[in-house]
Amino acid sequence: MDIKINFSGRSVRYTEEEIAVVVEAMRNADPLTQGRYLREFERGFARYQRVAEGSCFAVMNGSAALELSAQLCRFVSGDEFVIPAHTFTASAYPYLKKGAAPVWADVDPRTRVVTTKTIERALTPKTKAVVVVHLYGYMADMPEIAALCRERGLLLIEDTAQAIGTETDGKKAGSFGNMAIFSFHSHKNLTTLGEGGMLYVRDPAGAAVVPALRHNGHCAYDFERPDYWKPAMGNVDIPVLGDLPLMPNNYCLGEVECALGSKLLERIDLINDEKRERALRFIDALADCPELEFHRVASRRHNYHLLAARMTTGREMRDRFLRAMFEKGVKCVVQYLPLNRYDFYKRLGYGHANCPDGDAFFDCMVSFPFQHWLSEDDMAYMLGATREVLQVLRSLR
Ligand SMILES: Cc1ncc(COP(=O)(O)O)c(C=O)c1O
Repeated sequence: MDIKINFSGRSVRYTEEEIAVVVEAMRNADPLTQGRYLREFERGFARYQRVAEGSCFAVMNGSAALELSAQLCRFVSGDEFVIPAHTFTASAYPYLKKGAAPVWADVDPRTRVVTTKTIERALTPKTKAVVVVHLYGYMADMPEIAALCRERGLLLIEDTAQAIGTETDGKKAGSFGNMAIFSFHSHKNLTTLGEGGMLYVRDPAGAAVVPALRHNGHCAYDFERPDYWKPAMGNVDIPVLGDLPLMPNNYCLGEVECALGSKLLERIDLINDEKRERALRFIDALADCPELEFHRVASRRHNYHLLAARMTTGREMRDRFLRAMFEKGVKCVVQYLPLNRYDFYKRLGYGHANCPDGDAFFDCMVSFPFQHWLSEDDMAYMLGATREVLQVLRSLR
């Protein structure tokens, strides 16, 4: 099969200016990790997010940011966390590793993200944290969800891996919670050469332990030293939050990635705007095709990281649609098997969920190729193929 439009693993093509920044950092960064480019990226990211300086920490990927956020939750035995079942596995398993049990929340069938209602249904007296995932690039209703979590005394973590740059009423996704994570993976609208991530920690006491947690427990001595090499070049200690000792990791992000990340912050709004404008054109051009139900959002609340639709005519038609599109050289995919259906979660005893809307969406979903670098011709071809395939499927019914 000759694939004309692949579901690419790469979201963007870099500009010559961006490539020059990488080359400059390759030549000049010293050290190649944990240096000035890291500090600049973290400062620039905090400015972009309109959050306090010193609250953002670059790490090697979004999963590492989630691992750190899970450590900072300081779960104790019996704690639960609420999380949508319809998400990527890394949203959830770091919290399991720290001993908390997931309670699966359903998603809204139209927006495909959690709401206060679906979260409330999953809350129990054991709930300690709520993880909101801004899936597909759409920002959940954070003002309402944050108010609910405040009222119930729950930690709120935003998985903003897919939704960088989205906002509502001038406030960015990833700035409402106690913590937030971002991913700069190859597939994301902002990617730092394939891997990268950011952790936001609002509480200054939590933020203070992140550098040591991120980097092997390295820290400064708390006494004056006449010789900088004694007793060692630097200290290694156990980061402590409250009275809980936390074990360190090495989750650092290299200087070249950080230099590129800073540069890409200049273009991310444009990338998001271009993707949104294109998504809206595609959705509107299919407005007379009731078989495909998209989530149409014309504001910066959606960055259209992904272009997903529900096949309203059912799963069998969805499968036929995917096959026929593939025969035309367009590789659509199906994403985010509800986590409770994976062997991993079943084996751990979390195979049951009461999430009919998420299940119904997943079973009939189609995710179109939507990397930023698709050409206008590619988009026109995909649109034509979609219309033709729907026409044929209609005639079969
Ligand atoms: C919703 C979501 N959460 C978490 C992650 C993990 O990010 P990373 O791949 O950077 O570890 C991803 C993506 O890959 C994601 O899509």
